[in-house]
Amino acid sequence: MSTSIATETQQQQQKQQDSNPTLKLRGHDNLNAQGQEEYRYSHLLPVFTADTYPPLTPFEHVDPGARALSHSDPRAFLGNATSVVEITPNLGTEVRGVNLRDLDSEGRDQLALEVARRGLMVFRDQQDFIDAGPDFYLQWGRHFGRLHIHPTSGHPQNYPELHLVYRDANSTFNFERSDSITSTSWHSDVSYERQPPGLTTFFLLSSPSTGGDTLFTSQVSTLKKLSPQFIAFLKTLKAVHSGVEQADFSRSGRRGATVRREPVEHIHPLVRKHPVTGEEALYVNRQFTKRIVGLKREESNTLLNFLYDHIDKSGDLQARLKWAPYTVALWDNRVTAHSAIVDYGESKERRHGARITPQAERPVPALDGLSLDD
Ligand SMILES: [Fe+2]
Repeated sequence: MSTSIATETQQQQQKQQDSNPTLKLRGHDNLNAQGQEEYRYSHLLPVFTADTYPPLTPFEHVDPGARALSHSDPRAFLGNATSVVEITPNLGTEVRGVNLRDLDSEGRDQLALEVARRGLMVFRDQQDFIDAGPDFYLQWGRHFGRLHIHPTSGHPQNYPELHLVYRDANSTFNFERSDSITSTSWHSDVSYERQPPGLTTFFLLSSPSTGGDTLFTSQVSTLKKLSPQFIAFLKTLKAVHSGVEQADFSRSGRRGATVRREPVEHIHPLVRKHPVTGEEALYVNRQFTKRIVGLKREESNTLLNFLYDHIDKSGDLQARLKWAPYTVALWDNRVTAHSAIVDYGESKERRHGARITPQAERPVPALDGLSLDD
């Protein structure tokens, strides 16, 4: 049995537009036989099926960025760019003039390496890529690793590998808490998995006229701000990351109310090493990290809260992505954290995004020999 939220959402959306004819949402640009606007990306609206999935199995990840290391010019894929701008010194590059859809296998390898080095890359004017459709998205993502299937989020009908974010005037299918003074929630995606994602691609199909930006931070830089003695201590530690709270959120009836794979918890090092660049990065996040293994509860809470505060406060290490139509962002989930900004709810506009999420290696401890067992 499967429940289609998409149909219900379309009906709700249409009702809302009917009651407010001045409301124009981006992405509404086709007329149907009745002369009504149809949502251009309605085939990518979220559904929440009653399917269940078995636990994920371990696999060997071969990082495509490693192949680019031996290339004579690992940045050759940017050769046609009309503009390459560093968003901040620590994090992020914005590119114009490169059509991602045209990148061949070698170009995609180079892209993976550059994203690993810069943490975040933003490509503007990518209508070709976005309009290439879901089969292309899967083919694109599989170049970078085995595609993750999210246990609770909505996905387009028949494409469970595509994780969707979705909010409109009537509904939200995001992992959003309404009992906080802020929507800021720093995290690395699904860090509770044994092999969390690496090179991640995300784009918006429909966006509010203003608002809904995304915050990013460099976890390489947050680590570097700490003293050598403190970093040496952090490298000896590992923490439990848990998907239980996210599953409970759905089980409480929110976000489509489905849990298709039982939640898992895994232990990861507090400081991980990128397998290609060798860079070390802080790997804790307020959303999924629960406790530090072996420390007393108060010690663990104090240390984690200090690190979360450091990540929250360090505006000098962050970048803020303002979306525009046909923008595609790629980040390396191993060395960055990000947060949605839900500041557009009053406008009742639709925000609809899709994520392509290849898994990567089990996090490699920066401290050689650190055991990841309990
Ligand atoms: Fe995320």
